[in-house]
Order: sequence, then structure tokens, then C-alpha cells
Amino acid sequence: MIKNRAIAAWLFAVSSLVVLCALHGGWIRMARSGVPVAEWTPSVALLPPTTDAEWQQAAEAYRRAGAAESERAGLSLAAYRQRYWATYTHRLLARLTALAFVLPLLLFVARGAILRPHLPRFALPALALIGQELLGAHLATTTATAAGTSGPLLAALHPACGSLLLAVCFWMGLGYAIGQPRPEQPRVKAPVRRWSVAVLTAVSVQALGGMLAARLSAGTVTDSFPLMTGRLIPDGLLELSPWLTNFTANAVTVHFTHRWFGFVVLGLAATLNRCAKLELLPPYLGGGAAALLHGVSLQMVVGIAMVLLGTPPALALVHQAVGLAVMGAALFTCHRAFRS
Ligand code: HEM
Repeated sequence: MIKNRAIAAWLFAVSSLVVLCALHGGWIRMARSGVPVAEWTPSVALLPPTTDAEWQQAAEAYRRAGAAESERAGLSLAAYRQRYWATYTHRLLARLTALAFVLPLLLFVARGAILRPHLPRFALPALALIGQELLGAHLATTTATAAGTSGPLLAALHPACGSLLLAVCFWMGLGYAIGQPRPEQPRVKAPVRRWSVAVLTAVSVQALGGMLAARLSAGTVTDSFPLMTGRLIPDGLLELSPWLTNFTANAVTVHFTHRWFGFVVLGLAATLNRCAKLELLPPYLGGGAAALLHGVSLQMVVGIAMVLLGTPPALALVHQAVGLAVMGAALFTCHRAFRS
């Protein structure tokens, strides 16, 4: 990839917007601020109610869409407005991210800074963006109705698309920021490169598991560690049939695999850091490996503390933020291992 600071700055700016969107979405979910749009249409999504009558009407439609016994049925207008603005801000942020991706892309192509043969590289982030938008709209409609539940897997795919967008933009941004490696730069050995891919893959799998855990409220199944509900192998671990569905729909299984797979990630990150210490990695990569190990260690401590304290929303948000930082460090280390 040819060095281009403007394109790199643009891709890093999009990545930062995705981080903002993810944390804002996490806060909405944890504060249970809902998605109070009963009929998701572009006009509803773009234009908030203006008059008191319109607010009353919108709040009433939202209350009616919920089950009679739900807290939604008795929601005050003030609480409805609060939820509405939280959701509305999230939508604006998502739209801003989409514009921040598409408009500069067209400009860079028109000016010849991005060559047409390089355009297919931008197909993956574009698809992730579309997927995130469509899934977001789908979740908005389903949570606004009485039936009100999308499957947890589908719900987790929404932030997963955001993470993919973030990862690809960040990865390509690094490429444009660093450019071609200098000939005198030491090359990273193939086994170490493969190890960096293993760490990145493990971090991605762990992050996906965490997103699923969050959608299943899996933090609430226990407030103990290392035991779960008093046992090392908790009851109900594989109670769903077929057994594979336990890994996507059983909160106990999803929590159990997520907490223990964290140690696998920690082991992989520690080994990569050991390679740096043994000077198998050049110094510019050693910093990335050390940051990754510290990030994963911190994430383990935060994860365990969060569970022990009963998954308070503030700590869950910290866990999400550190998770994003860990993903960034893993991408950086892997990218530098290959572009040396
Ligand atoms: C390598 C270590 C880890 C990584 C990278 C990681 C990453 C994540 C991510 C990305 C989420 C989703 C956040 C969201 O979208 O809201 C999450 C959720 C979660 N993680 Fe971890 N995690 C790690 C270790 C742990 C450990 C050791 C535990 C517990 C012992 C744990 C417990 C949880 C729980 C309970 C949730 C769901 C929180 C909620 O309900 O909002 N995690 N994790």
C-alpha cells in the first residue's frame, strides 16, 4: 500500500466514530434505554416529534406495542422522551459514521488518490456498514413490538458488523500510514507471524463471545469466580438440544466458555510477548505485543471483577471499552508482523 497520510487520517477517523457508536450503543443497552420506534421508516428515524401532541402520540404507540404487564405500558412521557433521545443520538452517530465513510471515499476516488483497481478493498467495510445499518433497523422494529425479541445471535451480529468495520478501517489505515516497509527493516519470522494471526483470531472469537454474552445478559447467571453457581462445571451447561445451540442461546454455556477462553487468549498474548523478549520480534513490534498483553491482563481483571460485583452497567461499559482497545492492539501487532 502506498503511504498516504490523508487516507490514513480518514480511515482512523471512521474507526474512532465506530468506537464512539459502539460505546454509545453499549450504554443504551445497559441503561435499558430501549429503541422506542414502533414503525421504523426513514422519516421516523430522521425527524423526531415536534409538538406535544406528536410526542404523546409516539409515546402511546410505544406503550401499546409493549405487553400489557411490561414496564413499558406504564412509561411516563418524560421517560419516553429520554429513551427516544438516547436512541435518536445513536442513529445520528451511525448515520454520521456512514457519511464519514462514503463521502471521503468518493472524493478520494474522484481525485485519483484511491486507484480504481484498489476499490474492491473497500467492499468489505462497505458491506459491514450496510449489514450494521440493516440489523440496527431490524432490532429497532423487533424491540419496539410486543413480541419484542430478536434472537441473541442476530442481536450480537449488529455490534459484530460494527467491529468488522472498525477492524478493516483500522487495518487499512495502518497500511496507508506506514506505507511500504523499508528494505533495511528486519523481517519477522513466519512462525511468529502465524502466532500473531492466532492471537488476533482468538481475540476476535473472544470479542464475539462477549457480544453474545452481553445480548444474553449472561453476566447475571452467576456472581462468583472461578466457580459458577457453586460448581466448577455448572448445572445446565449443555441442557439445550441440539447441543450446538448451547453456544449461541444458553447463557450459562456462553458465560462459561467466554470466561475460560479468556485464559487461552491470555496465554497466546503472553507467548507473543515472550517472543518479543527473546528478540524474535523487532523493537517496533515488541511495544505492540507488550501493550496487547497488558490490555488482555487488564481485561481479565475487569471481567472477573465485573462478575463478582454482579455485572454493574458501569463496569460492563469499561469491559467493552477495554475489549475494543485489546482488539486495536491485536490488529496493530498482526499488521506490523506482516508489513515488515
Ligand atoms: C481476553 C479477555 C476478554 C475479552 C477480550 C473480553 C471481551 C468482551 C467483549 C468485547 C464483551 C462484549 C461487550 C459488549 O458488547 O457490551 C464482553 C462481555 C462480557 N464479558 Fe468479557 N472479555 C474477556 C474476558 C472476560 C472474563 C475473564 C470474564 C469473566 C470472568 C468476562 C465476562 C464477560 C461478561 C459477563 C460479559 C457480558 C457483559 C454484559 O452483560 O454486558 N470476560 N467481553
